[in-house]
Order: sequence, then structure tokens, then C-alpha cells
Amino acid sequence: MNNIAMLDLDVNVPHFIKYMGSKRKIINFVVEAINEVKTEGPVCDLFAGTSVLSGVLRNQTHIISNDIQAYSAVLAKAYLTDYNWQPNSSLIQDVVASATKKANDFFNAFPALNFDYEMEFSIEGFLAIEEKQRQLINSDFDSFDYHLFAKYYSGTYWSYNQCVWIDAYRSTAEEYKETPFYNAILASLMFAMSYNSQSTGHYAQYRDASSRSSMEDILIYRRKEITPFFVRKMEELQDTLGINNYSSQTYCLDYRECLEKIPEKTVVYADPPYAFVHYSRFYHALETLVRYDYPNIQHKGRYRVDRHQSPFCIRTQVEGAFQEMFKRIHSKSANLVLSYSNTGMIDLDNLIDLATRTLGNQYTVDVKTVDYLHSTMGRREDKSRSVQEAVIIAKRI
Ligand SMILES: C[S@@+](CC[C@H](N)C(=O)[O-])C[C@H]1O[C@@H](n2cnc3c(N)ncnc32)[C@H](O)[C@@H]1O
Repeated sequence: MNNIAMLDLDVNVPHFIKYMGSKRKIINFVVEAINEVKTEGPVCDLFAGTSVLSGVLRNQTHIISNDIQAYSAVLAKAYLTDYNWQPNSSLIQDVVASATKKANDFFNAFPALNFDYEMEFSIEGFLAIEEKQRQLINSDFDSFDYHLFAKYYSGTYWSYNQCVWIDAYRSTAEEYKETPFYNAILASLMFAMSYNSQSTGHYAQYRDASSRSSMEDILIYRRKEITPFFVRKMEELQDTLGINNYSSQTYCLDYRECLEKIPEKTVVYADPPYAFVHYSRFYHALETLVRYDYPNIQHKGRYRVDRHQSPFCIRTQVEGAFQEMFKRIHSKSANLVLSYSNTGMIDLDNLIDLATRTLGNQYTVDVKTVDYLHSTMGRREDKSRSVQEAVIIAKRI
């Protein structure tokens, strides 16, 4: 093991989206655990989410990044691309110019759709212009290929105006599809969407103005603009992400299929969902941004009908899901770092026991914990709860 290069900690990683269960704040704890079982093989981030681990490990090792959600692959590729920004010095300016033209063409085509958030509002007046925008779901914008957000999400998480800009940047991204900058553009757009959205860091529901103070708070977000956030993030990427000499693969697969693909002796980092809430419901809008497939939607939150149901979020399936994971880790002679918490769907002691039994006597199984303030993304009265984050470290002897 001595001649295996250890992975660096304390890497400055650009941040893209607010994400439930993101390991961003305890990423050094995770990388230290990976270092304990590092092999000469690749590191696989099996449930990548924000893909922050790829951000830390880029240009340090071969990475395989996987998540069932398509937006996670975009974030991973944005981190893992080998960039040469030099010959493309006007890139950001060109993207903004193209999106500005598209947005203005859209605004000019529908002059009656003019929603001004700069004025003073009564609650009734505010609710009325919000509702008017939500009714745009019944409008015909078919003369523009890129109108998904204006039609589906005006007056919900974003205003009509913000939605038109989201569509414009999404359309412009396609012009860069064959370049190394495609995923950086989409990831920067996700950042802008995340910080313009009036919801509390996810897309499970948007807030209603039920009082003057909630209206004032929503107005703060309605008055924001997509472009400054987009530009800020693109500039940060230009400043922080340069060459990446290591190869990488990015998959959008169920974890079982991904484990079939990894080479022997990979180090797998597994951070599955802990709670009963499905990520596909909380982040449907990001999935739709990436897939841009005009899906059938349902409920007040306007979720995709075809959203993924994870076995890790279903009490009757969670144990079997972990057992499958351990079996496949064993058959690949892989090492495993598994994140879980003391508030998860399965008791931590039971999970350790299951790992020890399924991996058998060719593995050692250790546990480390760290106290951590978990964001509940506004689901509880207490906005964050103290939980113990654990890593179960399984190493092939
Ligand atoms: C706790 S989050 C991972 C957070 C990530 N480590 C980070 O720091 O951003 C769990 C992830 O598992 C993904 N997921 C859920 N079920 C899955 C499955 N069956 N196969 C692959 N990914 C799955 C979700 O989409 C979600 O992004």
C-alpha cells in the first residue's frame, strides 16, 4: 500500500447546487476514509449527487462517477473535463450574447406577457400576477423550440422572466454541445437557477405568499436575474478548473448496473439516500433542464410523472438494496467507503452487521463518525438537526 499516492484534501471546489445530503461540508472526512483503503484502481462515486467528490479528486486519480439522475452526470462532467480556456477567451461573453438575443426575441414575440416585480405590491395583487404566470401552462409557445420553463414553471419556483432566460441559456448550451464547455454552461445555469429560485433549496414545492413577510421574501428572489449568477459561476470555473490528466467515466445508471461495470479493485464511495424522500421529486426541475423533454407533469409542484423511486427510500426494500451492494462489492474485490447516518432508514448497527455478514471474512469492517449539522431543507421547524455522519470502511484483506 505504501507506494499508492494519497489523495489531497482541502481542494477549492466550485459549488453548483443546494442539495439535500451533500457531503460538501464533510468532504475531507470522506477523502480521508477513501485514503485508508485506496488501491491502484479508480475511485467510483456510486451515488454522486452534486458530484463534489469529482471536484475534489479531479486531476488526482481515475474517477468513475454515477447517479441515477441525469443532472448529476452533467455536474460530474463539468468538474472532470480537461479544460483549455486560453483560446476561448470570449466564451462567456459569446454565450451571454447568444442567450440575450434568444431571450429578447421571446419577450418581443409576447409583448402582453409583462410582469413587473419592481413595484409596490398588496398581497392580493402579488398573488394575482403569480397566478397569471402559472396559467401560462395552457399557452401555446410552439413557435419557439425552447419554451419548456416559460410554459411549465412561470410563477412557481421562478418568474416568467427568469424562465425565459433559463430557456434561452438552455438553448444556447446546445450550440456548444460538441465543445468541452457544454457541461460547464449547463452546470453554471443550474447554479443560477438554484440561487434565483424562491423555494428553499429544492423543487419539492414552491412557497406561497401567505403573509406580507413571506411575500417580501419571495420578492427578493423574483427580483434576481439569471445572467449575473451564470456569469459569476462561469468565471469561477475558468479560474479554478484547468487541466485534468486523468481519464474518467460518467454513468447515469442504477447502482447495481454501475457496479457491474467497474474494474476489480476499485475503491467505491457509496452515499445512498438516507431518508424516505426521493431525490427525483426534490430535484425534478434539474432533471427536466438536462433532459429538456417536455415531460408529463403532475401535482402542485409540477413533478415529472416518470420520476425514479429509489429502494434506499423504501422501508421494505432498503435492507435488500444494501445487501445487493455488498454482494457486488465482494464479487469485484472492491474496497468500500459507505456514508450513512444515525437517522437513516436502517439502523446503523444493523447496517454494520449486514456489511460484516455479507462481505464475509475476506474483509475488515471499520466505522468512523463525525458530528454534523444536517440541513433539513426547511422540512422541519429546526432548519438543521445535529446528526452523526458515519463512514463504514470495508477493506479486502
Ligand atoms: C445522499 S445523495 C448523494 C450526495 C452526494 N454524495 C453529494 O455529496 O452531493 C444520494 C444520491 O443517490 C442517488 N440515487 C438514489 N437511488 C439510486 C440508485 N438506485 N442508483 C443510483 N443512484 C441513486 C440520488 O439521485 C442522489 O443523488
